[in-house]
Amino acid sequence: MEKILEVRDLVKTYGSKESAVRALNGIHLDIYEGELLVILGSSGSGKSTLLNMLGGMDQPDQGSVWFRGKEISHLNDRELTKYRKNSVGFVFQAFHLIGELTVSENVALTADLRKDPEIVDHMLELMGLSGKKNKYPSQLSGGEQQRVAIARALAGSANLLLCDEPTGALDSETGKKILILLEKLAREHHKTVVIVTHTKEIAEMGDRVITMRDGQILSIRENASPVLAERIEW
Ligand SMILES: Nc1ncnc2c1ncn2[C@@H]1O[C@H](COP(=O)(O)OP(=O)(O)OP(=O)(O)O)[C@@H](O)[C@H]1O
Ligand SMILES: [Mg+2]
Repeated sequence: MEKILEVRDLVKTYGSKESAVRALNGIHLDIYEGELLVILGSSGSGKSTLLNMLGGMDQPDQGSVWFRGKEISHLNDRELTKYRKNSVGFVFQAFHLIGELTVSENVALTADLRKDPEIVDHMLELMGLSGKKNKYPSQLSGGEQQRVAIARALAGSANLLLCDEPTGALDSETGKKILILLEKLAREHHKTVVIVTHTKEIAEMGDRVITMRDGQILSIRENASPVLAERIEW
């Protein structure tokens, strides 16, 4: 299997001297094209920090991150912006949609419409949102808003989807639907999907499950036969 990301000896410290917090303390990890990777760990264990490093949202103090053989951990701001725009899609707990823009306009933010004028409609259709194109985020349910966020994350031709507690703000039934979608994207559309979660049940659908503690990887478990999201009991 091809590697999409290689993480080597990653260290990240916030603050300085007495108040310093070592959020990541020597992370070593390979992530493969098309896999569904779940990251578990208690609050403060470094999950979001790791995800931010993978997505080029923040830079490490030591160590390196490689995306398809190219080091991204020490790019300048311009190159990092390009990496985030072209290669990575982010999905957050709080959706992060722009309230003044319609559904279509939100999705178009990441799209290159010269390259593919149909991409927005195509993504909205994939997410089952064709009927909501001209609505504003405040007119949508939580699950619909999260689907818009996923459509937006994918419209930028990203093959890598980084999801930080994507179901955290949703009721369990809606959360389950979002997971089914994410799983489908990994399995049928060959996207690499990384999901940070507190929910142990979600781990069962991952190809691999990483558990973090105190900025380190405590264990990596392979799931020989991942459970389908639709069969997860919450
Ligand atoms: N911008 C920051 N400034 C200072 N400390 C930070 C910052 N971001 C994270 N930290 C600290 O780094 C550690 C790891 O934080 P991180 O957000 O990665 O944890 P997490 O596993 O995502 O937790 P949660 O499950 O609560 O989201 C924590 O101790 C946190 O307080
Ligand atoms: Mg977090």
